[in-house]
Amino acid sequence: MNKARIAVLVSGGGTNLQALIDAEKAEKLVSGKVELVISNKADAFALERAKSAGIKTETVIKKQLGSTEAFEAKLMSLISENNIDVIVLAGFMSILSENFTKAYPKRIINVHPSLIPSFCGKGFYGLNVHKAALDYGVKVTGATVHFVNEITDGGEIIMQKAVSVRDNDTPETLQKRVMRLAEWKILPEAAEQVCARILKERG
Ligand code: GAR
Repeated sequence: MNKARIAVLVSGGGTNLQALIDAEKAEKLVSGKVELVISNKADAFALERAKSAGIKTETVIKKQLGSTEAFEAKLMSLISENNIDVIVLAGFMSILSENFTKAYPKRIINVHPSLIPSFCGKGFYGLNVHKAALDYGVKVTGATVHFVNEITDGGEIIMQKAVSVRDNDTPETLQKRVMRLAEWKILPEAAEQVCARILKERG
């Protein structure tokens, strides 16, 4: 079967990448295939996960390239060389410029660990998001998968899932529960939805 070609951009542990790989194996992600994993950190464990699954990896370091323009140009050339249809940001801790996001309208998706529009935008990433939710005292949080545009965490929402906060939660326990109950479920589901749409448009 013809599949949309997915590139996953990562920076860290890669549990969301793993959720995509597992969803393919479980045939829940059938309209798309992860063909390429790009990390902006040389030591990201996500790279090991990709290698174990036999997926091609690339490492692109902004500092080595000297500028955002050169960094994004390298990302764009990898995306084009590998005929990528869909870009998934899965714990990718670098904000992409408008120049980049405009090149792939409705083709970039991101998973964010809160219910957008709460606890999102610049500075809200990883554990910070859960710390902010606990500091505020919300009783419900969750995760969001959305299209990426020029506004940080501001693109159209594709899917959300709520998760209850517990009285004794720490940022770490909350992060783990949001990942397990929300992120790892809705990211593969949203990827399937977007890939299926692309295949349909292609005809
Ligand atoms: C995930 O919780 C993801 O939602 C978050 O970073 C973590 C990465 O974990 N992303 C953001 O905060 C983006 N603003 P992972 O590397 O194990 O998938």
